[in-house]
Amino acid sequence: MDLAGLTEDLHALRDEAIAAARAAASTGDLEQLEVDLLGKKGRLTVVLRGIGSLPAEDRPRVGAIANEVQTAMRSALADAASSLRSRELADRLAAEAVDVTTPGRSIRRGTYHPIVETADRITRIFEQFGFVVYEGPEVEDDLTNFRMLNIPQDHPARDLWDTLYVDVENHLLRTHTSPGQIRVMQSTRPPIRALLPGRCFRYEAVDASHASEFFQVEGLMVDEGTTLADLKGLLDQFAQAMYGRGQRTRFRPGYYPFTEPSVAFDVECLVCGGSGCPACSRTGWMTILGAGMVHPVVLQYGGIDPERYQGFAFGMGVERIANLRHAVTDLRLYMENDLRFLEQFR
Ligand code: PHE
Repeated sequence: MDLAGLTEDLHALRDEAIAAARAAASTGDLEQLEVDLLGKKGRLTVVLRGIGSLPAEDRPRVGAIANEVQTAMRSALADAASSLRSRELADRLAAEAVDVTTPGRSIRRGTYHPIVETADRITRIFEQFGFVVYEGPEVEDDLTNFRMLNIPQDHPARDLWDTLYVDVENHLLRTHTSPGQIRVMQSTRPPIRALLPGRCFRYEAVDASHASEFFQVEGLMVDEGTTLADLKGLLDQFAQAMYGRGQRTRFRPGYYPFTEPSVAFDVECLVCGGSGCPACSRTGWMTILGAGMVHPVVLQYGGIDPERYQGFAFGMGVERIANLRHAVTDLRLYMENDLRFLEQFR
């Protein structure tokens, strides 16, 4: 091999390499081409092996040409790589294009269940009077649901609160939120202002106005010198906040084993305004809750000295109040989870 031949081979290889680089279809092909041309066992190396057979004075010449050829090939490869990269990017952008003008999928927004919403409303009002929310268990024991509320095993009042028994001995689904009174008294010290919203259960023949599952909000206040007048004032304020200023209210005597005296708290009929209608059985009044002064025996079970402290308690049914707020006439609707009903409370 002589100088002219080797130079020719180098130039031929360069021209071929430049053409191949321009023709490469992808950056992957280009990387392969680079290895083939310039790699350790690449074609340039192979051609340069011919240097050994040249006279010594020609070798630097070939070295210089080889450098030029290598530089030319590298720059051809780099140019091709950069144009391929931008083409590949453009292809990808086109393929993965997102049409930002397409309207988004709308999110299905939930709403508060009307019972939760009503219980929250009640809670907010009593919170303004310093009441703090507690929760008792839905599965209660007989002791707390009944006996410590002054309802012994054989008391006729048990018929009113018949329920579902989890085990015959002791556990049952609570029939009211009142056992929460005991739990609060046993775990905190007076002054107590507690609110206990929650689900209750009773053994009922279910119809439009009787449900075996329902909600109550219980209230309990215990302090020195608490009187029935405090209860009356508080409930009156509650009625004003719930139903508007000027809402008329009244106490009627009532009976509960765990309060003494006991009362029913009425508001003037929210449907007819007091003149008498089917909604109020033509009495002009609606009973919205039961209440009374906590029985001394109950205070004692709660670990509170009835000589020093007095308390009042009240319990209201949430469905009754939700019915009036939303003109619902069948209690069963609250438990059916029918979206056609629930979506009306947006
Ligand atoms: N627990 C009673 C009921 O379920 C309501 C009540 C609560 C009455 C607190 C008086 C005091 O009917």
